[in-house]
Amino acid sequence: MDPIIDLDFIDNRTPEQATAAASCDTKVTAETNTGKSRKLYIESYGCQMNFSDSEIVSSIMFEQGFDTTAHIEQADVVFLNTCSIREKAETTVRNRLGQINYFKKKKPEMVIGILGCMAERLKKSLLEEEKIVDLVVGPDAYRDLPNLISEVDGGQKAVNVLLSREETYADINPIRLNSNGVSAFISIMRGCDNMCSFCVVPFTRGRERSRDAHSIVREAQALVAQGYKEVTLLGQNVDSYKWASEDRTEQVNFAQLLEMVAKLSPTMRVRFSTSHPKDITDEVLYTMKKYDNICKYIHLPAQSGNSRVLELMNRTYDRSWYLNRVDAIRAILGEDCGISSDMIAGFCSETEEEHQDTLSLMDYVQYDYSYMFFYSERPGTLAARKLEDDVPLEVKKRRLAEIIEKQRECSLNRNKRDVGRMHRVLVEGFSKKSDQQLSGRNDQNKVVIFDKKHYQKGDYVNVFVNDCSVGTLFGEAVD
Ligand code: SAH
Ligand code: SF4
Ligand code: F3S
Repeated sequence: MDPIIDLDFIDNRTPEQATAAASCDTKVTAETNTGKSRKLYIESYGCQMNFSDSEIVSSIMFEQGFDTTAHIEQADVVFLNTCSIREKAETTVRNRLGQINYFKKKKPEMVIGILGCMAERLKKSLLEEEKIVDLVVGPDAYRDLPNLISEVDGGQKAVNVLLSREETYADINPIRLNSNGVSAFISIMRGCDNMCSFCVVPFTRGRERSRDAHSIVREAQALVAQGYKEVTLLGQNVDSYKWASEDRTEQVNFAQLLEMVAKLSPTMRVRFSTSHPKDITDEVLYTMKKYDNICKYIHLPAQSGNSRVLELMNRTYDRSWYLNRVDAIRAILGEDCGISSDMIAGFCSETEEEHQDTLSLMDYVQYDYSYMFFYSERPGTLAARKLEDDVPLEVKKRRLAEIIEKQRECSLNRNKRDVGRMHRVLVEGFSKKSDQQLSGRNDQNKVVIFDKKHYQKGDYVNVFVNDCSVGTLFGEAVD
């Protein structure tokens, strides 16, 4: 996977071009054609949890008489499931609304809804700011969609942004829209109680709550039965998963849940994201070691390598705690375990030396890849209220560029270690460049490309890797 780089871009495409591009990068749903009378078009932005929520929304809308369509011009209802994590995420959605206006002008009865984190953050003011929006629905209010849609059908605008302490949509059977038929995602919890000072998620997603462990196992079991080969358990902080039965006789923590899912089938790979450095336990690491089908890869966002900055970020760990966790991963799971991170460049008052600490942390850990951003102040967060966003934009961008350069170095080092070795690859489909080549991922979540021979999507293939780039491994299938 290529590291994600958060640099601005200028979007000067036509609405048709932009819609076509959106279809390519899988923001748009696949089609369900079951003869329903109305059609829903849904685009998802932001994190995997949002993509997973869109599958819940589609299921609720299906019960309400909606098929999904991949063609916006055919839609009766258009939903954008939005993200607020950085300013740019919100700007992208506002630009997209501008393009959607073009379709709405051609078809004025088209209903436009904003779902997800931007809906929750901006609430009904979105209706005033963006005139074409008819519906604003927060992440815990999707069960109310049928009522809200009928309000809009009756000629009104509708809003529900109530957050819940209980809602986990545990009983809703998601319609797998964003899936390649090989890997799927299961949300195991919602919300976040962590209050990192830069982060909007606790405000947009509400309090942390864990989903019934048995409903998770049932969902994973259904995926096995449908032929899926990989499941990723999702949460903002999976290590704090904790579920108890009503009479409290049964209690399940994350390590135990992982084990319950891993036991379902030895050929079903299990992944998870995101791990929080303050909460990841040795118990989780030993559970990973115990089961071959739990992938040896951990997304462990550091955010910064400097203890003072980490304290300002309210991450509740310092540099040495983080490094201790990395050492535990290496000691228990070995050097081959993949580790990735998220990094923020130019957080409030970060000095040049503190930025150097981030680079030296990266040198020590040797991340396989990272998602890298410069700090973007979000209204209402602790940092916005208490700290000054005082690192100039050009300094943030320069530091980010240095972080990206460091990551390229680390990714290349890590990928070179993989050359000359055999990897077990789960095939996800054709490579982007050729239908003579297949693309899949190894245990450590790295993309591997090889000539297809007689193999196909969903196969596990032993691939001997003979070359690599910063983002990809290349090899040959060995029968
Ligand atoms: N729950 C995950 C992160 C979810 S948000 C965790 O705790 O690691 C994904 C990433 O976006 C964060 O890890 C952080 O690196 C980045 N991010 C969040 N808020 C940001 C902000 N205000 N500016 C820049 N990056 C931000
Ligand atoms: Fe945001 Fe921190 Fe929660 Fe992650 S753990 S979602 S960064 S508040
Ligand atoms: Fe974005 Fe909300 Fe996810 S802010 S990153 S979509 S939880």
